[in-house]
Formats: sequence, C-alpha cells, structure tokens
Amino acid sequence: MLLTSRYIHGKTTIRHLTLWHKNIIEIRRSASLSNTFSTFHVPLTSPPLQINRTSHHEIHTSAASSAIWASPLNNYQRKSVNTIRSRSLSTETTWNESSLPEKIKSLDEYKVLYDFSIKDPNRFWKMAAERLDWYRFPTKIKNTEFDYRCERGVDIKWYEDGILNACYNCVDRHIEHDHSTAQQVALIFEPDTPTESRHHVTYGELLRDVKKFANVLKKHGVKKGDRVTVYMPMVVETCIALLACARIGAIHSVVFGGFSANNVAERVSDCDSKIIITSDFGVRGGKCSPLKAKIDQALKMKQCSAVNTVLVFQRNHGMPEMKDDCADLRSSLEWKDGRDFWVHEEMEKVNEICEPERMNAEDPLFILYTSGSTGKPKGIVHTTGGYLTYTNLTFKYVFDYNPGDVYMCTADVGWITGHSYAIYGPMSNRATTVIFEGVPTYPDVSRYWNIIDKHQVNIFYTAPTAIRSLMAHDDKYVTHTSRQSLKVLGSVGEPINPEAWEWYHTVVGEKRCPIIDSWWQTETGGMMITPIAHAWELEPGVATLPFFGVQTKLFDKATKKPLNPPNSGELCISDSWPGQARTLYGAHERFVDVYFKQYPNYYFTGDGCEIKENGYHHITGRVDDVLVISGHNIGTAEVEAALDHHDHVSESAVVGYPDPKKNQGMYCFVTLKDDVEETEELRKQLIKLVRDMIGAHVTPDFIHFAPNLPKTRSGKIMRRILRKIVEPDISNLGDTSTLTDPSVVDDLIKKCPRTKRA
Ligand code: WTA
Repeated sequence: MLLTSRYIHGKTTIRHLTLWHKNIIEIRRSASLSNTFSTFHVPLTSPPLQINRTSHHEIHTSAASSAIWASPLNNYQRKSVNTIRSRSLSTETTWNESSLPEKIKSLDEYKVLYDFSIKDPNRFWKMAAERLDWYRFPTKIKNTEFDYRCERGVDIKWYEDGILNACYNCVDRHIEHDHSTAQQVALIFEPDTPTESRHHVTYGELLRDVKKFANVLKKHGVKKGDRVTVYMPMVVETCIALLACARIGAIHSVVFGGFSANNVAERVSDCDSKIIITSDFGVRGGKCSPLKAKIDQALKMKQCSAVNTVLVFQRNHGMPEMKDDCADLRSSLEWKDGRDFWVHEEMEKVNEICEPERMNAEDPLFILYTSGSTGKPKGIVHTTGGYLTYTNLTFKYVFDYNPGDVYMCTADVGWITGHSYAIYGPMSNRATTVIFEGVPTYPDVSRYWNIIDKHQVNIFYTAPTAIRSLMAHDDKYVTHTSRQSLKVLGSVGEPINPEAWEWYHTVVGEKRCPIIDSWWQTETGGMMITPIAHAWELEPGVATLPFFGVQTKLFDKATKKPLNPPNSGELCISDSWPGQARTLYGAHERFVDVYFKQYPNYYFTGDGCEIKENGYHHITGRVDDVLVISGHNIGTAEVEAALDHHDHVSESAVVGYPDPKKNQGMYCFVTLKDDVEETEELRKQLIKLVRDMIGAHVTPDFIHFAPNLPKTRSGKIMRRILRKIVEPDISNLGDTSTLTDPSVVDDLIKKCPRTKRA
C-alpha cells in the first residue's frame, strides 16, 4: 500500500492512487465472487452521483449474496464469545495489516480485525485515523486511564498531538481530492410538507455557505473555544451552522427544538454561551412551531443575561410558499436591535474566504446535554480527533456505505444520532444525506416510504418507536410504495422488540435488507454494539457484536462481581475507544461519579445486557427500569416485548410502583392498534400472555389501555412521568414541556386507578 498517513498538502496524487488501488482490489474481489467484472467497471474518478447506479448495485449485491448474511431465522452462529475473540491473525482473510479494509465482508474478517483492535489498539486506531486528513498526523494514539483510584484519575486522550479540522474533513477535503465532488449532492432537504419546494445542496454550495456563515460568526466576535448554542429545526441551515462552528473552532451546543425556554436557559447558562443561533420557526407535522420566540422568553431569564447576540435564520428563506400561521409568526417576532440579526442579511456582508482553524485532536468539538438520573442535565463533551475518527469508521463499516449511496437518518440534530449519523459520520465519508424536517405520520403514515422512493434512499436509519407507530397501521401503507432502492435498514435509541424487528425486516425491507440494531449512547459518541451490514447473521431484537476496539463486560448488580458469558448483567466497557465522551462540561467529578465509580476501572453504561452463547449481545434496557417483585428481577423491556407480541397491541410501557408486600407492583400502559376495542377479555389475554411468555411469577397488576403515551419529540416514552403517575406522585411530575403532547398526561391521570384510589 502506498500511503500510511494523510496530510492536507501535497499528497493528493498519492491519495488518489491509493484510493484507486484499494478500489481496484475491492472490485477484483467482488468480481471474483460474481464473475461479472465487466458490468461494474466504473470510472473511479467520477463524482459518486454520476456512477452508474445499476453497476454499483451489482457490486454490492454480488458481494452480499456470497457473504453469510441470510434470513435471521436460519441457524445462528453457535460459537462462543471466546471463540469469536480468540482467533489469531491468521490466514482467514486477505487483509494485509498495513491499512484498514474498505469493508467488513464476513464474520471471519470481523474476528481477525476485532482481535487485532483489542491486541494492538494503537495500530488499529492509527489506521482508522488515516481515513481523515490531518494538518499534523498524531504520533501518540491512545493515552487513557479509567481508574479513578489512581493518581492520574479518569483521563481520556486520543491522538493528543494530532492537528485537524472537523469541517475541513467533512467538506473541503472531498473537493480538494476530487474537484468534481463540488457538484455532488451533499444534502437533500425534504420539507415537512411534501409539496413544498425541496432543494439539493452540493458539496460546493455547502462549502461556500459554511465559509460565509463562519465569517458571520467571526464578525460577531466568536472565537476558537467559545460556546455557541444552536436551537434549530431539522433543516440544511442547521448543518451549515454546526459545520461553521467546527470550522472556526467554536464549540456547538445544540439544544433540541422541542425543549422549553426554561430548559434552553439552563443549557445556555451551564456552558456560558454568549451567542445563540436559531430560526424564526420550524415546521413539523403541518404545524408551525416558534423557535425565536422561545429564545426571547429564555433570554428574559436572569441566567441568560450574558447572551449578547442572536443570529436568526429565516426558515426557507427566499421560498415563496409559507403557511399563514408561519407568516403571522414571522411578522409578529420581537426584535431587539443590536442583539438580533437575520442571517441572510449578515451573509451578504461577508466574503467566502475562511481558512479552517487548526484544532488539536483533544479540543472540544461540541457539548450535548443529556438527561441524568438527577434533575440537572449533563453536558457531554466530545472532542475533535477521536470523535470524528470513530463516527467516520463506524458509519462506513456498519452501514457499508459506498460512493453514490443515498443515506437517510430520521433523527433530529438535537440528539446525538443527528450529530454522529446525520452530520459528522456521513459527511466525513462524502455521503449524500437526506435531511427530513417532518414526522413519520404526516401527511400520512406512508411518509417515510414515499421519501425513500422519491430520493431513492439506499440506507435508512430510524428509531423503534417510529417503527412501532407505523406498524400499528395497515401494511398497505408500506406495500403500495416500491422501496426497491433500500439496501440497509437501521434502528437506534431503544430496544427493538422482535415483532417490530420482523415487521421492519419483512414488510419494509422485504427480507432483502439487514437490520442494523445499533446500541450506543450520547456518551459513547458512536455505535458500540451493532451488526455490520451483510457480515453476519442476525437475530431479531439483538444488537449482536461489539464494534472494533469495544470490550464488553457484565457485572452482577447485587454482588458487583464480574460475570462470565453466557449471562445477563449490567453492561460495562473495559477500555477506552476514540469516540468516548471526555468529561461533562465543567463537571469532571460528576462524570467520574456517574460513569466510573460503580465498577472501578470500567465505564458503566447504565444498561442491562445478556451475552448469549454465540457471543451476541442483547440489550435488555436501562438497569433502572428493572423491577424487583417478590425477589424476582424483571426487566420492564421484557414485559413490554411480551405485551407487544399480542396482535392487537401497538406499543406498551411498563413501570413499577411501590408495593408493601411484593416490594414493587407492575403497571402496564398498553396502546392498542387502530379500531381494536378495549375489553375485559383482552385485558385477561394480555396478563396471560405475559405469564406464558416470561413465567408465572410475572403477572401484571394493572393493564391500562392508553391511546397515547407521553413521548419526547425524539420519540422516547417518558417512563419517569409514567412512574410518577402510578406511584402516585402527581404533584412531582416534573417538566412535561418537552413532550409532543403534554395533554396526554392528564388523560392518563384521569384513567389511572391508583391515582384515583390515592
Ligand atoms: C438505549 C442514543 C437497546 C440504551 C444513541 C442507551 C438502545 C440509551 C439501543 C442511550 C439499542 C440505544 N438497543 N437500547 N439498539 N440504542 N438504546 O443517549 O438504553 O439518547 O443507554 O443515545 O438508549 O440513549 P441516547
């Protein structure tokens, strides 16, 4: 191999040659598998969207059909975890150890590389870093300490003497390596209303706008290391804002657009940001939601007195169509001269020249707040080099992203999935990404599948909650669409129950597409336990195997002792990986307390996990969602899976309540499918189903039929609120402003027999 490290200046030709060389090897491998070499002899210098699609698909499917991917109902691999991990670097693959392969084609190839990543993390992650462009390539790769008891304390550093820029890696370099990439579509914007103008943004246009917006930030005094709060809808301008921050070394802190003014104020003051980027409004599900007006509310609070600048994007600036309520909102905005600025006006005052800032690998890239078990949100800090390397590699391998593929992630940028797999992972891989502003059910429940057809989406990544809400409707809403472009389907955010998995696999993917059930967290930065597309057999609802460099360990909750697989316990990670959060903003001690003190020398995930005989990992849900009833530990996720098994059930949420006899009782909220009647008979059937599926010791005490459950706008059921309702402790429900529909809570309270009794 010609290239061992990549530098920004002067190596373009060598890189081209290397890429070419790799691709030729790749094509030859595929050719030998399919004997159809001539059909996919594509010009490697073409911009991805110009690649002959038919040919490209042939490359892919021919490789896939010979891989071991098969129906999930076939026999599973029955190899123990030790077997999986103990294979040495041997003759099993053609991998030559000088650079990472372009894709992982089989379980054997995974095993060899996994072994290598554990035995020699410095070499493995050095090779992964070679996928990026560095101003100075790091000489130090891994320098990490998990043990809070030692003098150094918990301290995580990757690539610490490396210098790079995340925005450069996501945009500029693709054009510098291949000028025709300027014409490649980077982002496809799909607005909430399907008939509204959508637009395609090329890498060239994106680079121009990012540079200009970066100059707007500079003009308003933003410097390297400053925190910038971003409160935006899911639109192209949000990507521009984030990349512009990264370009000048400012640390973005995205606050999800559904959060209340109070929450915004709390997050602004926690990271002491003096500037806010927002939009006049956002549109979701046909409704116009005020964003700038909420910022105005937040800025009236004392906590936010330091904020001196608000940059306001006009949603759909220059487009003719606008709903009446949106037009009213725009015209009635409060405006504070000297503090509030329209971005489109500011963009006219700056030029298009803006060199990327040279950032140390350990300089923070962003802060993202996530809720903790105590009230105060945790400001998770991710740094530049490790995070980008990790999201770049996981995106490439897990989804098997190939040039020309159209990728869509439905997550809002307000959550980590939107950061890692709508922006940094795909863009650092020169992907074409669909940015969807709306919701899966508007204007009807075919929306996702229509978008997939419209933009010929090949890889689709969404959340189980969306899948469950869509599968509650007639399959015809899916089957009347084509979905032939789909190759890979992904799921993230919560355990996916086997029924939802099967529906996603069979109805949506027509059994053609692997389901990537990827387990990870805001704190982990990227995917941790996940299938790799087409590489191995899948099991419904099972996240399968750890990604390279990720070492899992189970512990017994009561004794705190390690457990040997096969077993179930609390999931910890034994050693660091580059995408890991480094600290909590301004609260390193809390970081150590929450994640490193439960099990000294391990990162504690807070999730339960079963590692099966074949080494596959099945995430059982948050460990704080485990009920202890009459001495039996019962995972609420397990009960939910049983309830969801019933043909008439769309979704369920199970919570515990204090019971003087049994320690805890079990209360089940159940949403039925369209047009199913709530009957006593059905209630009995569900109780029996749970007993039958889990065991006679598991008997729901209450089945509460609830047409709607309280959900955050990212789709997560707020179990905290459900627990308070059934305790009952309704005077302490906490903040309900982040729910899609706060009135759901009142309906539940009215119907809850335990609240009534109290
Ligand atoms: C849960 C989202 C089961 C888990 C990326 C984790 C999952 C929490 C899965 C993190 C999955 C995420 N299977 N559970 N595939 N993916 N989770 O920080 O409980 O929003 O700890 O990150 O979601 O949620 P977060």
